[in-house]
Amino acid sequence: MHKKTINILAIESSCDDTGAAVLQNNNVLSNNIANQTVHAEYGGVVPELASRAHQQNIVPVVQQALKNSGIDKKDLNAIAFTKGPGLLGSLLVGTSFAKSMALALKIPLIAVNHMQAHVLAHFIKDNDHHSPPFPFLCLTISGGHTQILKISDYFKFEILGETIDDAVGEAFDKSAKILGLPYPGGPLIDKYAKLGNPKAYTFPKPKTKNKLDFSFSGLKTAILYFLQKEHKADPGFIKDNLNDICASIQDTIITILLEKLKLASIQTDIKHIAIAGGVSANSGIRSALKACEETLGWTTYIPKFEYTTDNAAMIGIAAYYKYLNNQFTDESTQASARLKVDE
Ligand code: KG4
Ligand code: ZN
Repeated sequence: MHKKTINILAIESSCDDTGAAVLQNNNVLSNNIANQTVHAEYGGVVPELASRAHQQNIVPVVQQALKNSGIDKKDLNAIAFTKGPGLLGSLLVGTSFAKSMALALKIPLIAVNHMQAHVLAHFIKDNDHHSPPFPFLCLTISGGHTQILKISDYFKFEILGETIDDAVGEAFDKSAKILGLPYPGGPLIDKYAKLGNPKAYTFPKPKTKNKLDFSFSGLKTAILYFLQKEHKADPGFIKDNLNDICASIQDTIITILLEKLKLASIQTDIKHIAIAGGVSANSGIRSALKACEETLGWTTYIPKFEYTTDNAAMIGIAAYYKYLNNQFTDESTQASARLKVDE
């Protein structure tokens, strides 16, 4: 029997990147993104500016994605969009655009949970690995979230642990800000860390009541006090030791993440371990996870670089599995800023 080909246009607009992608089944035909640079000078994402930039970017980004895919609008089977979580003003742009396009083309609409999509990015065909088997664990680390999840089916997510304060991406970005680096500082810490000694300085590791939960707000404070003290003694301290400081901060964060992940693996007896989200682009985390294959017998799943930070291809793959399950939505669906991963 011949399997039906499904073409989906997916739109992502939850934060500060406007993304559009076209997927044919689980293949990514195009994956376009317009990064917003307006936020750098403010040291963080400004919601009002993000929403305005999405409005400017969305039409050209969608047009480019369609063009690059070689798929004609009339051959699309569905339009997918990010329902949440994210910034409401940003989500609204993608949501209303998707609704009107689906209406105009008379094709179904699919609402996607951004956090589920980060995880489901592992099922995109051109990843460097096979799809993980169910159940598997996923450490989702981004600018807004830090969670250890047990995934028993495409849309069956259980939170085993999560952050009780800052997300790990915030820990990276706030540390970078203290160091005088521009937003988002995560990739810059990664870059300087490669040249430094990870054991040069030590920072405290927080304790949480639930051992699988995370807490990063104390780390940021510890780094701030440490740097203030060193700066008093030597005003050139940060500049002269930037690589070592970045390497030590990154090493502390990786140690915390892996400790919890190892505990979750023991508790659940699951050794198929994935990472997802923007922070999984971090080269130190990627190699630390890979090393666990040898030391702990894990099979690890690390998404291709372009599927880690926010992108529309991940929205498209989540939508593909929803399409197969007949999980469509209608015009009345609303963007939801605080959508939970299991909703
Ligand atoms: O998933 P994402 O693109 O957006 C959210 O949904 O939050 O994640 C963005 C976060 C930012 O905090 C950024 O600094 C961090 O991911 N990030 C990194 C790296 N690349 C992106 N953090 C550390 N190392 C990196 N290489
Ligand atoms: Zn994200």
